[in-house]
Order: sequence, then structure tokens, then C-alpha cells
Amino acid sequence: MIHDLGALKRNFQESIKKARDIAALLRLETEYVGRRGKLTGVLRSLKDKNEEERRVIGKAANELKKYFKESLDAVMRELNISSLGDSLHRDRIDVTAPGIAPERGVLHPLTLITRQIIDIFGTMGFAVAEGPEVETEWYNFDALNIPADHPAREMWDTFWLRSNQRLLMRTHTSPVQIRFMQSHQPPFKIISPGKVFRYEATDASHDIQFWQVEGLAVGKEVSIANFKSTIETFFEQLFHADVEIRLRPSYFPFTEPSFEVDMRMRGDQAWMEIAGAGMVHPEVLRNCGINPHEWQGFAFGMGIDRLAMLKYKIPDIRLFRENDLRFLKQFR
Ligand code: FA5
Repeated sequence: MIHDLGALKRNFQESIKKARDIAALLRLETEYVGRRGKLTGVLRSLKDKNEEERRVIGKAANELKKYFKESLDAVMRELNISSLGDSLHRDRIDVTAPGIAPERGVLHPLTLITRQIIDIFGTMGFAVAEGPEVETEWYNFDALNIPADHPAREMWDTFWLRSNQRLLMRTHTSPVQIRFMQSHQPPFKIISPGKVFRYEATDASHDIQFWQVEGLAVGKEVSIANFKSTIETFFEQLFHADVEIRLRPSYFPFTEPSFEVDMRMRGDQAWMEIAGAGMVHPEVLRNCGINPHEWQGFAFGMGIDRLAMLKYKIPDIRLFRENDLRFLKQFR
């Protein structure tokens, strides 16, 4: 029996010398000290021995078990340390090497200018209101005094959605006026920037999707003179340059009188049509539950893309939606 233990120890010593990795060590552990291991086999067979033998062999076997475990632990520690050293060496990082800067994104020019627009109107006391891009026929047209048989509907070529509720992609930001007036009591001043959609042919200054900013100011004595000074201040602050403005009489069913606003940099030849505007039509106020004998206001709808074209000297509106990085990266 004792001889068996001696042989077991020698075999173990041979094997552990050859163990090169942790997996090999774990195998040895199972083989020698595991529950079904060789040493356990020896201990089990003790039950057939007399007391004296049991005492001597039992003691020797327990010492051997301790020896096995300690040897395995020691080699395990060595292997761990040397594999850590290996990986530290392999994965060495040169902290003095020059860094690789992550590529920095830029804001879209329309986002940039929209933020400036919100800031400038903000300083003049205008809050920001929002409305949905998918609208009902009533908000986009009827409530704005444009019933179904009205020829003015031709002014807005519409993307209709295939639905039986007469839904459409809003053709202008004016429905936000209605939504806001239905839920607020005057006086108030708001702007509402957002995307609008038109089913029309494109050219250098017309796209099928573009941005507008709606403006609405309702009070007891709001006048066209207030409108004029508001947009003059706005243009001065947006362009920091000498700009010329021209108001042309026009027609919108939801304003009376109505006009169009053209703009150019002083010295330029051509005018750019920037906005439609006017005094809110009494019928529109009434549609929203506001008494037109008590309240009046101005409204406007400005083309943000066109403002950006003038400010950044962009020759073609379609560049905004081509997503050519060479174009987009110029705006910081
Ligand atoms: C309107 O959309 C009216 N809702 C504006 C308005 C609001 C009038 C409130 C009165 C009171 P209009 O269709 O003219 O009007 O468009 C307004 C502005 O949007 C234009 O002056 C122009 O700057 C811009 N715009 C119009 N169509 C396009 C287009 N296809 N591409 C780019 N910008 C456009």
C-alpha cells in the first residue's frame, strides 16, 4: 500500500514537470486529487485494512494529497505570472505615439440656420411651436379658408396619402397656426420651423421637400408696421449685412391684406422670394374660436432653404438634400 503511494508520487512528479499550461494542470488535479482520482481510490480501499494500517496509510495519503495540491498551486501561479508577462509584452501600448483624432461631425446648414432663426426670434419674444408633418385636409386647407372647391388649392401641389381620412404631407407650416390658436388664448407670438412637401417640378430654387418657418403674432393692436419692423430686425441679425426688402401685394386665402416678401443683398441684381405674409384673415381667427373684433395679428411663412442659399451663397437648393459630404463639410 505504502509502495503504491510512493509510485503515485513519482508518477505525479513526472507528469507535473511536463505540464505546460493551465488545462494540463487541471487534468492532473482531476486525475490525482479529484473525487474519482487515484488518491481517492487508495483511501477507499482502506476500509478493508486493520486499524494500524489504516492509521499509517491514511496519514501518508493525506500528506500526499496536501503535497499534490500545493505543487499544483505553485505551478499554476507560475504559469499565470508568465502568461500575464507574455500578454503585457504582446499588447504593449505606446502612450507616446501620436493619437488618431476621431472624425468630427458637422451640423447640416439647414439645422445651423434654423437654430439661428429660433435664437433671433427668441430675443424678440417669439416662442417655438410644433405641428405634425402628416396633416389632415382640414388643418392644411379648410381651416385656413381654403375649401375643397377653392381655386387657391392649386397654389399648393399636394402629396396625398393613400388613406380614407384625407391625410396629406403638409404643404406649408400654416396649419401650426391653427393648432396653436385652438389651444391658446391671445396675445401670443410664435414661430414654427419645420419640413414641408410639395408635389411640383424642381429647379434651382424649388424642391419637393423644403423647410419653412411660420410666424404668428396676435394681439389687440398688432399691425403691418409691426410685421415690417420684425422682419427687418430679423434679416439684419441673420445676415449682419445690408439687405434690401421689398413687399409685393399678393393673395393668400388666410390673410387680408396679403403680400410677398422679396430680399436681396444690397448691390445684387436679382430678388429672391423669401416669404408670404399678411394680416390673419378674420375667418381664420373665427375658425379657432378667437373673436376678430377683439384680436388681430400678422402671419408669415418664410422659406428657410432660400434664406440659407442667400446667407451661405448656395446656387442650387437641391444641394441641401444630395448629402454630398464635400458640400456638407463646409458648414461649421
Ligand atoms: C405659403 O406657403 C404660405 N403658407 C405662406 C404664408 C404664411 C402666407 C402665413 C401668409 C401668412 P408660399 O407658397 O409662397 O406661401 O411659400 C412661402 C415661401 O416658401 C416662399 O416665399 C419661398 O421662400 C418658400 N418656398 C415655396 N415653395 C418652395 C419650393 N418649392 N422650394 C423651396 N422653397 C419654397
